[in-house]
Amino acid sequence: MNEISNITKLPEEAYEAAIRRFAKEGAHIPGDDKANPWVPFGDAAAIKHFCFDVRTNSVANILWVKGGGRIGTHKHRGVVSAITLEGSWAYYEYDWVARPGDFVYELPGAAHTLYSDDPDGMKALFWINGPIEFYDDNGKFDFTADVFWFIDHYTKYCEANGIPINQEMFV
Ligand SMILES: [Fe+2]
Repeated sequence: MNEISNITKLPEEAYEAAIRRFAKEGAHIPGDDKANPWVPFGDAAAIKHFCFDVRTNSVANILWVKGGGRIGTHKHRGVVSAITLEGSWAYYEYDWVARPGDFVYELPGAAHTLYSDDPDGMKALFWINGPIEFYDDNGKFDFTADVFWFIDHYTKYCEANGIPINQEMFV
């Protein structure tokens, strides 16, 4: 907690009591690899989960694709946004390459295949809304990644490895 002298006091609202009674604070989710593990996603990628919101079917996480790796072809049913943290990545379907600091958004109906041919791979923070449908290399439906798929991905790995589940991740 900061020094009290550094906290600006705001005027009371007419419904201040309701805010105090029903509002929820946000949360600080540690990013260190011990408390918040990289959960393998296929052979060449891993996900560090940060947030699961079952009311909006949305999640936040960092996707790490190792150099030469790719993520299966997928179709979005909601808006996705991402900011690149490390390395570089692209989709086979587009002519851009995302590098650190670059922002990407993807809209419902978009379908594409992510890859990283950067020797250092890539890391990007994704905010994902709605389900993502994954397909195999023959275009056959494989599975849907919605908020519950991401929760299952995180919690099963934690339980299998004796890592406490961080309840603060659940909005
Ligand atoms: Fe995508």
